[in-house]
Amino acid sequence: MSTTVWSDLQAHHKTMVEVHLRELFKEDPNRFLNFSLTAKGILLDYSKQRITQQTLEKLCKLADSCYLSKYIEDLFTGKKVNFSEQRAVLHTALRDPSSTPLFIDGQDVKSEIHKVQDHMIEAIDAIRNGGWRGATGKQITDIISLGIGGSDLGPSMVCQALDEYKTTDIKLHFVSNVDGKTLASVLKKLDPKTTLCIVNSKTFTTPETLQNAKAIKMWFSLSLGEKEASGHLIGVTANPTEAEQFGILKQNIFEFWDFVGGRYSVWSAVGLPIALLLGGDHFKDFLAGANAMDEHFRFAPFLSNMPVLMALLGIWNINFWDCRTHAIIAYDDGLRQFPDYLQQLEMESNGKKAAKENGFVDHATAPIIWGGVGCNGQHAYMQLLHQGTQIVPVDFLIAAVGHSGFEEHHRLLMASCLSQSKALMEGNQPEMSGFDPLNDAKQCFGNRPSNTLVYSKLTPRILGSLIALYEHKVFVQGVIWGINSFDQWGVELGKKLVKEILPYLKDPTQTSSLDSSTKGLICYLNGKESIKIP
Ligand code: F6P
Repeated sequence: MSTTVWSDLQAHHKTMVEVHLRELFKEDPNRFLNFSLTAKGILLDYSKQRITQQTLEKLCKLADSCYLSKYIEDLFTGKKVNFSEQRAVLHTALRDPSSTPLFIDGQDVKSEIHKVQDHMIEAIDAIRNGGWRGATGKQITDIISLGIGGSDLGPSMVCQALDEYKTTDIKLHFVSNVDGKTLASVLKKLDPKTTLCIVNSKTFTTPETLQNAKAIKMWFSLSLGEKEASGHLIGVTANPTEAEQFGILKQNIFEFWDFVGGRYSVWSAVGLPIALLLGGDHFKDFLAGANAMDEHFRFAPFLSNMPVLMALLGIWNINFWDCRTHAIIAYDDGLRQFPDYLQQLEMESNGKKAAKENGFVDHATAPIIWGGVGCNGQHAYMQLLHQGTQIVPVDFLIAAVGHSGFEEHHRLLMASCLSQSKALMEGNQPEMSGFDPLNDAKQCFGNRPSNTLVYSKLTPRILGSLIALYEHKVFVQGVIWGINSFDQWGVELGKKLVKEILPYLKDPTQTSSLDSSTKGLICYLNGKESIKIP
């Protein structure tokens, strides 16, 4: 990126390199007030970022120079912002309760969306109140939610995070990987007569999901008969034809659309397991939380726009401080799967270098997203963050009120979260008593940036807002980096090679055309390590 705004930020960075966060806090006793923001029940404290007001103003100039306001409007109004696939991107429309029409290629997508939502509510009510029974007339007690990537990560993460809000005794079982271990352990404990399986797949061509779906369909058929088995299958897909050909009854198929990316699909019928577990009201609250964040993102000025600020702070750390990874550390066991969810959202959206105007970008794009829960991280990887050779910006997440009722536990959890971000910011200052400046092993350098996100309590609405916050952060970064956040061509090669390699695992003797590593591995995996590799 060679714009003057970018060079100006590079020059500004040079003036900041020697400035320690300790000094910035000393200079401004109101630093927290000046560098924090609340929106939709979430507080963002970004005062521990290595910035001044001037930094923020320069970053906002960068956003303006990339026509961010225009792209935000394009996103919400259904322009084809997924330019490599010439598609609109409308996960925001999925959670917009208004019936204001939104025409895409002559079709009012809002009425389609609300039709599917009505079908979802009808189905979950029937399943939950015993109207929808199995082939033998028994009530449903268990639901298998089958899918991978965006067809699994959203429902699985949200159901775990909002377990306190479940309003049914029906049990959910998530199966994603094609390692049969999980599927076997799930099927072993279930009764086909009282189980339904939701097959979640946008394309309905993903090999892992189809392999699992075939095994589950067989499991039903062996117990209920081929014909009856189809009544125990539900399909969620943008490819209803394939789903019907697989044997799912038309009335049990819930459609979503090409304008919904897999990693942005939790708001669609992919969220069926969430609605089943929580009930329609809580699911609507979840959608409403995301819609509230949409309003904020669409209309708040950049300097008081939470997704925009988080995006710009990320760019400041990645592109000017050369930070290559970003940690999400939730001091909330309910968000245990949140880092995994954000890995797909961020790395599959912005892990690219193809530029909008052909060619390749010449700056860094998505960082490696990783993380976990605190306090556990303090006993695992926080050592590196405090004393390692690389700087890792952190998003800390903490609720003001826990779910457990263990007040002392929650106080210790909060104190631990705050202490970690404080220690990263200020280090152990040289004048600390007993500190031996010569003994560097004990030195924590500080000046390590973090955001702290505080929310009242992890409710369906707050979780909806949190997810939407990160979705819009990712979108803003993609606009500024000049890449397409909504395609994922990088995963296609692996899918193609699987089809080529699979036959060799049945017959390793025909591997001559493969590279020697793949050949050798195939032979070894086939227990033929003694074979002279052809
Ligand atoms: O990882 C590639 C990908 O296409 C993701 O974008 C998607 O969420 C996942 O595979 C599953 O795809 P599908 O929902 O079509 O089975």
